[in-house]
Amino acid sequence: MIATKDSNGLYLRVSVTDRCQLRCSYCMPKEGIEQCSHKDILNYEEIVSFVRAVQQHYHLRKVRITGGDPLVRPNIETLIAMLSDAGIPDIAITTNGQLLTRRARQLKNSGLHRVSVSLDSLCELTFRDLNGGSLEKTLEGIESAIRLGLTPLKLNMVVLRGINDAEVGDIADFALARGCEVRFLELMPIGYGASRFEDWYVSSEEVRRRLSQSYTLSPLPVNRGETSCTYSIEGNRGRSGTVGFISPYSHPFCDGCRRLRLTADGNLLGCLASEKGVSVRNILRSDDPAAANQIGAIVAGALKGKPTCRTFKRRDSMAAIGG
Ligand code: 5AD
Ligand code: SF4
Repeated sequence: MIATKDSNGLYLRVSVTDRCQLRCSYCMPKEGIEQCSHKDILNYEEIVSFVRAVQQHYHLRKVRITGGDPLVRPNIETLIAMLSDAGIPDIAITTNGQLLTRRARQLKNSGLHRVSVSLDSLCELTFRDLNGGSLEKTLEGIESAIRLGLTPLKLNMVVLRGINDAEVGDIADFALARGCEVRFLELMPIGYGASRFEDWYVSSEEVRRRLSQSYTLSPLPVNRGETSCTYSIEGNRGRSGTVGFISPYSHPFCDGCRRLRLTADGNLLGCLASEKGVSVRNILRSDDPAAANQIGAIVAGALKGKPTCRTFKRRDSMAAIGG
């Protein structure tokens, strides 16, 4: 049993589904991936029991809901309201934005604080080729979320050579004009894109160099445990803001990482690159009065087992791991 509450904040990413209506070429093949069986997917009560058990032992400062696309799971607002009742100070969601316009108001009303939206291209054709979705829907979703104050809104762009790398400046402009922070992500050698990694990978360093031709970039202080290196950016039209670079491949950000992932089927992962997690599903489904302590011990183990330097050993897509 863990007697005292750990005062270092923890950050939990909870995947609520491995389903997604898009097929980003670096994540999933067109026919999709093998999906978890519905009976294995944690229900909202089970997710919240897990969260409450973690809260007994740790200061849980943030929960981010991911997927797949979390908005394809019915009534996700109910989970957000339940997390809000559990006193989570920062509740965020990561989505591809296709369903955001319809859902933004309910999400806001249920207690959601922030949204990150994936935006890999501003060109309709590239967008459709890359993921099969509608650029217009994602753009409308972004505008709705901003209008409702689900801010600061972050945009995630996975930079891919020969596909969207010429658009990094356009995406930065788009974000600056709306007061959003764009985060340029390096491709990771996981998921369906692992086989195209050598062709598509662009380092953050290269993106920074490219942006520096048109913008003034100045590094901001780095917070230990943060995944993103943030820079202030000044555009040539007098606009300024911040941009982030997430460099899991060129600069694994393991030092001080306090991030844990819970997959949709109840596996707890200490690291995105870990080969396997520990299942908490049966514990959550048992009536054992010691369940919260067992979960506390599993979380302690996952934190202890975090790698000091990450090497990508697993190949599953982010939709399976939890984006
Ligand atoms: N490499 C980098 N980023 C990825 N994402 C999904 N798969 C990969 C990958 N192989 C991104 C999504 C989303 C974020 C959660 O992770 O585009 O923006
Ligand atoms: Fe869906 Fe995200 Fe995978 Fe794209 S990266 S297919 S949006 S889960």
